[in-house]
Amino acid sequence: MSPNPPRTPALASRLPNVGTTIFTVMSALATEHQAVNLGQGFPDFGCDPALLDAVTRAMQAGHNQYPPMPGVPALRQAMADKMLALYGLRCDPATEITVTAGATQAILTALLAVVHPGDEVIVLEPCYDSYVPNIELAGGVPVRVPLTPGTFRPDFDRIAAAMTPRTRAIVINSPHNPSGTVWSA
Ligand SMILES: Cc1ncc(COP(=O)(O)O)c(C=O)c1O
Repeated sequence: MSPNPPRTPALASRLPNVGTTIFTVMSALATEHQAVNLGQGFPDFGCDPALLDAVTRAMQAGHNQYPPMPGVPALRQAMADKMLALYGLRCDPATEITVTAGATQAILTALLAVVHPGDEVIVLEPCYDSYVPNIELAGGVPVRVPLTPGTFRPDFDRIAAAMTPRTRAIVINSPHNPSGTVWSA
């Protein structure tokens, strides 16, 4: 008797070269060797009870509906206030803040929105592991520029040399992951 035909057809991945993430690899090793896991952000403290109370109150008050697409206005205002208080940055909560489910989604969404097929996007290596696959998903071409060995500072001459008329974006982050380097103005 022949076996049932496969219910899921073979799917061709759009990211065939993306393997297991370094986070999964390091966390599995830490578990195996019972080592302190510095490879991923695992809080070793509980949730602040004030936050648990606030979430409970919000749910009991019926705040469980779809928000406006850019995010709940009170949250966007609170984020604008925080940007001003911590970084001196004035952001318009109505037009300059969009709430996302974390940075990974924000970066992918931003790249999909602005990168057209064939556009080049500069990343400074070593870089966070989602950047290059995100650029490739958008149809862009990642252009890898190494940070200065040892100090992990941007090498502006190399960045300038990597820029072409096809350069659409440069992905930076500060403090830099994985080195922790903080950029100056
Ligand atoms: C540089 C960098 N980009 C993106 C992310 C992903 O952030 P999230 O967990 O909010 O998706 C991280 C997380 O550590 C990060 O360090």
